Amino acid sequence: MKVLVVGSGGREHALCWAIAKSPMLKKLYCAPGNGGISSVAECTDIDAEDIPGIVGFATSEKIDLVVVGPEAPLVAGMADRLDEAGIKVFGPSAEAAMIEGSKGLMKDLCAKYNIPTADYARFDECDAAKEYIRVHGAPIVVKADGLAAGKGVILCRNENEAYAAIDHIMIESAFGDAGTEVVIEEFMTGEEASFFALVDGEHALPLVAAQDHKAAYDGDEGPNTGGMGAYSPAPVIDKAMSKQIMETIIEPTIRGMADDGIPFKGVLFAGLMITEQGPRLIEYNCRFGDPECQPLMMRLKSDFLEVLLAAVNGKLDKVELEWHRNAALTVVMAAEGYPGSYEKGSEIKGLGDAEANGAVVFHAGTTLDGERILASGGRVLGVTAMAPGVTKAQKKAYEAVAKIDWPEGFNRTDIGWRAVKR
Ligand code: AMP
Ligand code: GLY
Repeated sequence: MKVLVVGSGGREHALCWAIAKSPMLKKLYCAPGNGGISSVAECTDIDAEDIPGIVGFATSEKIDLVVVGPEAPLVAGMADRLDEAGIKVFGPSAEAAMIEGSKGLMKDLCAKYNIPTADYARFDECDAAKEYIRVHGAPIVVKADGLAAGKGVILCRNENEAYAAIDHIMIESAFGDAGTEVVIEEFMTGEEASFFALVDGEHALPLVAAQDHKAAYDGDEGPNTGGMGAYSPAPVIDKAMSKQIMETIIEPTIRGMADDGIPFKGVLFAGLMITEQGPRLIEYNCRFGDPECQPLMMRLKSDFLEVLLAAVNGKLDKVELEWHRNAALTVVMAAEGYPGSYEKGSEIKGLGDAEANGAVVFHAGTTLDGERILASGGRVLGVTAMAPGVTKAQKKAYEAVAKIDWPEGFNRTDIGWRAVKR
């Protein structure tokens, strides 16, 4: 089979790495890919959001399966256009991707199908939004409705912060059109976890859970990022909890979407708050998490390409997944300054040494310059290791991090602390 993965992050490197192991694979492409992906796939310089470019390439190269990594092309209709061109695609239609593309629509779906989540209200008018805040008080959460690269959520400790958040999103248009509408939510407390299920429109197959670290610095301090590290399994989600999540959150969502005529196909990523009242949904994403995808792919024993095909062909009910019992943990190395502004172009050395003991360095923002690997993004590497238990996986990952010679980068030193403390 010829497979094309769309995207250029650590997630896409992990997807390519897993697909490349399949005996069914004949040729793997990635668009646009990065400096590390080029070691497992042929990278082709087409932007991940260039829908005509991707459809054209998939058609001319006779690609058997396209796997779309990021949300933006999905929300823009990449899966629909590939489908119309007769090309198999793993990823939801634009309409189904609205589960991530509009927080308001996602909340309405939860309300309609009784899915446990934070109480909420939607507003397209500033004064009414502020009045709601005045009535409900703080802490409270203000969210831009649309895609805002993970930055559109503002946790407000007091009412003044919440009024300021409304102004920031609706008046100052900090997130452009994504903030024409806001969702205001009850503030939930508990432990967060990332839960993933593959979905073929009708059947949902749970994957293992993971935990992310959104804050930039140790101790969960500093600004929010796309994620500074992750591990799997998530001790907070045991077998019984996983079953409860499937029954109360994932399955009603899949059934509801199918009933509404917008079946979901692809990977459904539930950001969860494990509260004293049980698991509650924070948000849905229509794609794999990054960095969560990296420890997930390392733990997967089954042939990932075969599983993706079952998802695309509506046969997930026939699949039983096999996982390594070991834990896997990813430490993200980012460019100094991230998530703010940072320099590009510094050289990264020691990658071979870092992988000498079985760790895998997934690349995100890197480019290949002859033999040299240069940093070209905010999140740059995902150093991933597997071992019996999170504590050992953590040690192994940080030993690999220590071998990487990149003075312009930084990483958290406490990835996995929650699981280790247990
Ligand atoms: P999101 O982009 O929706 O994942 O939100 C980013 C982060 O904000 C989440 O990972 C949570 O830590 C936090 N968050 C979002 N919604 C809520 C909520 N209703 N209550 C508490 N924390 C929340
Ligand atoms: N790591 C969280 C996300 O991918 O949205």
